[in-house]
Amino acid sequence: MLTKLSAFPKLQTHLEAVKSKTLREFFAEDLERASKFSAEFEKIFLDYSKNRITSETLDLLLELAEESGLRDKIAAMFSGETINKSENRPVLHIALRNTSGEPINVEGRDVMDDVRSVLDRMEDFSEKIRNGSWTGYSGKPIKNIVNIGIGGSDLGPVMAYEALKKYSDRNLKIRFISNIDGTHFYESTQDLNPEETLFIIASKTFTTQETMTNAETAREWLLNFVVPPEPGIKKQNGDTWIPDRVGDDSKINDAVSKHFVALSTNLEAVQKFGISEENMFPFWDFVGGRYSLCSAIGLSVMIAIGGEKFEEMLLGFNSIDQHFKTAEFPGNLPVILGLISIWNNNFLGFHTQAIIPYDQYLHRFAAYLQQGVMESNGKSVTEDGEKVDFETSPIIWGEPGTNGQHAFFQLMHQGTRVVPADFIAFRESLNPIGDHHAKLMANFFAQTEGLAFGKNAEELKAEGVSKELIAHKVMPGNRPTNSILVDKLTPYTLGQLIGLYEHSIFVQGVVWGIDSFDQWGVELGKVLAKRILPEIEAGNVSDLKHDSSTNQLIKKFLG
Ligand code: F6P
Repeated sequence: MLTKLSAFPKLQTHLEAVKSKTLREFFAEDLERASKFSAEFEKIFLDYSKNRITSETLDLLLELAEESGLRDKIAAMFSGETINKSENRPVLHIALRNTSGEPINVEGRDVMDDVRSVLDRMEDFSEKIRNGSWTGYSGKPIKNIVNIGIGGSDLGPVMAYEALKKYSDRNLKIRFISNIDGTHFYESTQDLNPEETLFIIASKTFTTQETMTNAETAREWLLNFVVPPEPGIKKQNGDTWIPDRVGDDSKINDAVSKHFVALSTNLEAVQKFGISEENMFPFWDFVGGRYSLCSAIGLSVMIAIGGEKFEEMLLGFNSIDQHFKTAEFPGNLPVILGLISIWNNNFLGFHTQAIIPYDQYLHRFAAYLQQGVMESNGKSVTEDGEKVDFETSPIIWGEPGTNGQHAFFQLMHQGTRVVPADFIAFRESLNPIGDHHAKLMANFFAQTEGLAFGKNAEELKAEGVSKELIAHKVMPGNRPTNSILVDKLTPYTLGQLIGLYEHSIFVQGVVWGIDSFDQWGVELGKVLAKRILPEIEAGNVSDLKHDSSTNQLIKKFLG
């Protein structure tokens, strides 16, 4: 783990020399600094010079990476070794976009035929939806696609659909329901015609409470139109009573088969729900939920943009996978991003990280990365179960620029906390209207400049700012940022961007010695909610078995 590596104390000693210096000083001392601390891969340009680092910092961070065994760990991931130890699984999201033709073996068996065959089935199905040949129970073509899933079965598809909207078929309405709050279901379906609506039930486990509840509601919603229930007749379904539709099984099965497909690893549960194997698009245990966008979980995105564009996204992912696997660490973008994050977090003590895309299409990118980073690296023990004595995952948050500027940038510029931030922008706008893009980019450059160099009292004085206002107007600067400049937002570059962050998460996990691919911390809440639900349903306040606060709150709720 991090603190046991011999590069760790060296970095701590080195920190003393760096800490006292400012970005102003670093830039003044070295006119080559920008090019020295930049790296490029294909159309992605990363300028990380506005970080509080020197060449020695970078050398020591690279030493840290080597010493942590990162090279071997990358090789182990790509060759299908069981690197997710606590779940006893290999981690092979890279297989989903392995366009190289190379085999990838899991327990001695090449999985690429399975991967390809699911992709082919997805493409075939997407095409049928897009060309109108897949019809609903009344013979009408499907116009509305509703993905029901949560976490990795929602955030990736939503983010990618929003990011690639420009490339999507505008005749299709694509919706995403994740929250168990009935409002999400209601508001996402109330204007839809069931005859033209397809539900995609996306759940790796097919047991997640939110998704299964929404899926049951979706089935009821559809069937209420197809076979309205007999008034007053109910049947028991699990814990709840639902309307019964007597004697119409073939109509029900026909409607479900035309309006429901499943994306899952759990065939048994899918069939139990009433979706047949031919309407299920499988994936595998070696794909983690938050890394599953390129699997069947991406079906809604494929329907929206078409198979060809989806394949372009996979190519983009694959290009960054190959880069990560083969590039020397000093020019390896995910390695650099991961190490800079470690420097900011574990040495400079900046424990949050903002993600600010200057592109409205990426408005869900920070939300997506919140799961990617924090569910992966929000751990307190190493993969061997030893308690760590350092901070792990930074807190990830963000909003698109320029919106963020008018919300939380005040804190980023003058607050007591330093928030390292990644600024992401595209040279070419997908919607070049007037001078919008020039203004957007002017803001993009201005913000990192301001954050790095600020404005001091002397400069304010020289500008004639009154004495009383100087303290309020001083901009301390010295706030680290990365700038990622990409040519154009396309399926290919989106794949690259996501892959870049995925691998930088892995880099950090390896240096910390933690398992970035399990998520045991989400389990307790699920178990407790399952215990509380029957109490709420029984409405018996005298029999609550919790602490006084939880009891009090449940009582209040029950009235
Ligand atoms: O609760 C966390 C989690 O397990 C995530 O890791 C996962 O992406 C999400 O729930 C949804 O799980 P599933 O796809 O199995 O419904």
